[in-house]
Amino acid sequence: MRYRPYAPEDFDQLYAIEEVCFQPPFRFGRGYMRHLVLSLDAATWVAEENGWLAGFAIVERTREPGQPMAYIQTIEVMPGHRGQGIGAELMRRIEASARAMGAQTIRLHVDAENAGAIRVYQAQGYLYEGREENYYPWGRDALAYEKPLESGEAS
Ligand SMILES: CC(C)(COP(=O)(O)OP(=O)(O)OC[C@H]1O[C@@H](n2cnc3c(N)ncnc32)[C@H](O)[C@@H]1OP(=O)(O)O)[C@@H](O)C(=O)NCCC(=O)NCCS
Repeated sequence: MRYRPYAPEDFDQLYAIEEVCFQPPFRFGRGYMRHLVLSLDAATWVAEENGWLAGFAIVERTREPGQPMAYIQTIEVMPGHRGQGIGAELMRRIEASARAMGAQTIRLHVDAENAGAIRVYQAQGYLYEGREENYYPWGRDALAYEKPLESGEAS
C-alpha cells in the first residue's frame, strides 16, 4: 500500500469510496467533497494499491480564536481493505499534516452508533469530549473526540 497526498485525478475514485461508505443523507455531496479536497486549509491523504484507491482521509485547519486546531472531516477505507491498518496509517498522515499546519489539537465528530470508527479513534489516543445531540441528519447524535498534537511526536 502506498500513501500519498491527493492529486486532482483521484477525485472520481475518492468519491466512489464516499458512495460506498456513506448513504444519503449522511454522504458528503460531490460539490462539498470537491471543495474540501481543493481547500488550501485542508490536507487529503490517499492509500493506493496498483492504481486503485483503498481509502482516504481529509483534515482541515479551523480558524477559531485561541489555539490553532485541526478537524478531521472524514476518514474512509473500502470495506475489503478494512482491518489491515490502513485507517491507522491515514490517521498518522493527517495528524502529521495537522502539525505542519500549526495545529496543536486535532478534533473530530463521529456518529454515536459507529462503534468501529469509535474504536479506531480510541486506539489512536483520541479522548472523549462529549456528546452532541441531533448533530447528524435524522436526529442522530455525535460523539466529539480530541487529541493533543505533540510537536516533537514522531509521525
Ligand atoms: C473507520 C475506518 C476508516 C477504519 O479503517 P481501518 O483501515 O479498518 O482501520 P485499521 O485497520 O487501521 O484499524 C485501526 C484500529 O482500530 C481497530 N479496529 C478497526 N476497525 C474495527 C472494528 N470494526 N471493530 C473493532 N476494532 C476495529 C483495529 O484493530 C486497529 O486497532 P490497533 O491499532 O490497536 O490494532 C473504516 O472502518 C471505515 O472506512 N469505516 C466506514 C467509514 C467511516 O465510518 N468513517 C469514519 C467517519 S467518522
